[in-house]
Amino acid sequence: MRMVDLIVKKRDGHELTDEEIRFWIDGYVKGEVPDYQSSAMQMAILFKGMSDREVSTLTDCMEHSGETLDLSGIKGIKVDKHSTGGVGDKTSLVLGPMVAACGAPVAKLSGRGLGHTGGTLDKLESIPGLTIAIEGERFEKQVNTIGLAIAGQTAHLVPADKKMYALRDVTGTVESIPLIAASVMSKKLASGADAILLDVTVGEGAFMKNMNDARRLATIMVNIGNRLGRNTKAVLSDMSEPLGFAVGNALEVKEAIDSLQGRGPEDLMELCYTAGSIMLVQSKCASSIEEGRAKLHEVINNGKAFEVFCKMVEMQEGDVSYILHPEKFEVSKNIIEIRAEDEGYVKSLNALEIGESSMRLGGGRATLEDVIDMSAGIVLHKKIGDDVKKGDILCTVYTNKSEKEYAPILEDIKKAFVLTKEFVLKRPVIREVIG
Ligand code: URA
Repeated sequence: MRMVDLIVKKRDGHELTDEEIRFWIDGYVKGEVPDYQSSAMQMAILFKGMSDREVSTLTDCMEHSGETLDLSGIKGIKVDKHSTGGVGDKTSLVLGPMVAACGAPVAKLSGRGLGHTGGTLDKLESIPGLTIAIEGERFEKQVNTIGLAIAGQTAHLVPADKKMYALRDVTGTVESIPLIAASVMSKKLASGADAILLDVTVGEGAFMKNMNDARRLATIMVNIGNRLGRNTKAVLSDMSEPLGFAVGNALEVKEAIDSLQGRGPEDLMELCYTAGSIMLVQSKCASSIEEGRAKLHEVINNGKAFEVFCKMVEMQEGDVSYILHPEKFEVSKNIIEIRAEDEGYVKSLNALEIGESSMRLGGGRATLEDVIDMSAGIVLHKKIGDDVKKGDILCTVYTNKSEKEYAPILEDIKKAFVLTKEFVLKRPVIREVIG
């Protein structure tokens, strides 16, 4: 078999056989297929797509390209959650403790942020001392003790995805439905959870820009998971504006702490209640969605979810005093308020622009080697549908960059807010539930 023939076959719109997909992935991981051929194949897939069978085979090959985790030492039905990425998306930090406090074991492997999207690991690492490098027995013991661990993926898990994602990131091939589906599901399957809840984001700040694409991606992933014996469901959530108010690592951890103490933004909490109630039913900790929701409200109101978060930080060597006294988090040197130059209602608030601006302020990385400024980011004061008077604060910007560096970024942030004189309805965060 020759890789070039497989590229030509896909380029011309034909289906690859299981053997051909295996030849590509095995060869790529071993270094026998070079980056340039793998990259050409990924571009051909982006243009020509893949059948459901091809995506299943690709997922399977990627899942078994390295180690897979055996979580059988963890008691109960393990649930995991994965988001396809967004701006201001601190859901895992709030949802994980909520679901764990209701009795469902959450064994979560998370990723880092890249480009305009944030990553749970980076957010967690803004807590001084906290380690995400917990593996094996330690990981198991933590989930068995407090019901929750959030760790980084080890180098041995799904090495194919690591290589392929890095390549996609620099070759314009991230936004391919089959490639995203195989990337997400290979990691979730290799991580060993019994049940999986997928949060497929849709809108300007997400990889899926419209509902049709989001629905197709969610359906493919749900089908792969269920076919392989993992109870898999998906929520489609709105990402046309950032989730919650805070964007940026430490700023988002502070918002997560507020949320766990009952002061969470409406959209973030609605996503947590919807996703969480499904996870509780999946793990058999609730017999209905309504019962799951009631339990989740209870653990927010009685402080149990916050307690689980504190215990997780402690067991992962983080300084809990920051969680109890969030004012201890370092604050950026420059704090700039952006005010409305006109009045009206917020018609749109471009999540992509806000995510990219936060990254440029120092809060994200353009390449994996970049060092993040944990204190940098943006706190929104107005969101879609809000009434704005001239002079109102639209958002507060946090950065350690010099004025010369941040001035053009402020202009871009201003452009992210579009006002209109017409009344605008708030956007519901849950667009659809699949599976
Ligand atoms: N998240 C992933 O894990 N993989 C993708 O390809 C896109 C989002």
